[in-house]
Amino acid sequence: MENYTFFNPTKIVFGKGSTNKLKELITDYNNIMFMYGGKSLKASGLYDRIIKQLDGKRVLEYPGIKPNPLIDDVRKAVDFCKENNVEFILGVGGGSVMDSAKLVASGALYDGDVWDFLEYREKRPEKALPVGTIVTLAGTGSETNNSFVATEPETLRKIGKSGSEINYPKFAICDPENTYTVSAYQTASGSFDTISHVFEHYFWLPEDYTPIQDGFEEGVMRAVIHDLPIALKEPDNYEARANLLMASEQALFGLADVGKGYGEHVEHKMEHILSAKYNCAHGAGLAVVVPAYRRFMCAHDPKKYRQFAKNVFDIDTTGMSDYEAGIKGIEKLEEFIRQIGLPSTLKELGAQSKDDVDLLTEALCENGWIFKNTIVTKEDIRAMYASVYE
Ligand code: NZQ
Ligand code: ZN
Repeated sequence: MENYTFFNPTKIVFGKGSTNKLKELITDYNNIMFMYGGKSLKASGLYDRIIKQLDGKRVLEYPGIKPNPLIDDVRKAVDFCKENNVEFILGVGGGSVMDSAKLVASGALYDGDVWDFLEYREKRPEKALPVGTIVTLAGTGSETNNSFVATEPETLRKIGKSGSEINYPKFAICDPENTYTVSAYQTASGSFDTISHVFEHYFWLPEDYTPIQDGFEEGVMRAVIHDLPIALKEPDNYEARANLLMASEQALFGLADVGKGYGEHVEHKMEHILSAKYNCAHGAGLAVVVPAYRRFMCAHDPKKYRQFAKNVFDIDTTGMSDYEAGIKGIEKLEEFIRQIGLPSTLKELGAQSKDDVDLLTEALCENGWIFKNTIVTKEDIRAMYASVYE
């Protein structure tokens, strides 16, 4: 096991009615920038409940945060924040809103361009306004971590990065009932994102003996595989929604993967180019690239994939080689992706020509931070994109 330091100060307030705790969580602040996305917040009634909790405060509403936030929109929000003497930022929504809230919180106290925090690997915020989150879509785990993602569309650079210790939200209100209205597609996309967050660490350093982390991560995956189909059939099934939300939060909270090294997040980098180009849901893009990447890695070092097949999908691997067992597990994963209604090809995401395979490969290899610690080459990336074109 690698050495590790664990730090995550976000107060998690989880469960039915937890939105009603907002007032007491926010008592110290008066000028509140309230960031949210499109129509879903008012349609679900959550907007009214939040406004009630904010009674007596100066509320500076900032709606309209779009999925896969563009850096120009984040810059505009930073300007708004600077002009309005904001004391606290409340981000209510999915990853796009919560990431934007964290970026704005740091951009507002920074003289340079907020994009610097994404473009330069070593550049991390030194100051940030306090942020609170109310998550409405399970998947990214952004509510309880210090990461943010934004896109520069001209260059197809969609960059995700961990900020510094000051970028953890002060609190995260996680009420599974606030996720009842999420569409089946976004529910599946979010939960597949959760699985792939676990993958990035579970399969990393496969030779290390890490039974505690493995058990934790297998538990997260098993919960998603069990409860996602239930939530898709019964959107207001509290237990299923609760498990998906907890899985999402724990997959990237930092605890499940301590001592496992940082990883290269190749599949996330392969996906970020897709959501930059096609503006697809992040988890849907992952559903396309993850099986291709995992098939490639399984051929290289299959032992951990046998464990995955056995412990996550309960496959009887007796008599199989590690590779055969691992591929059975990946085939099960592909079946699961079809079952939950997510895409498997670039065409389904919006690709219209095979030229996209080269375009995506070039963009990724120019912009990405891959190849440092992995065996994956540029030609491997090209072959993987080509294998899922149609
Ligand atoms: O805009 P509204 O109307 O609110 O609709 C949203 C949006 O269209 C809808 N939605 C959210 N909550 C809802 C709801 N609809 C009905 N009922 C609700 N309760 O869902 C749509 C997608 O929202 P979005 O926030 O874009 O989805 P998600 O949570 O998947 O976030 C994706 C973003 O997070 C980044 C992704 O790259 C992407 O930009 N990520 C952030 C990470 C992090 N901070 O740690 C890690 C992830 O790997 C990921 O990269
Ligand atoms: Zn993700």
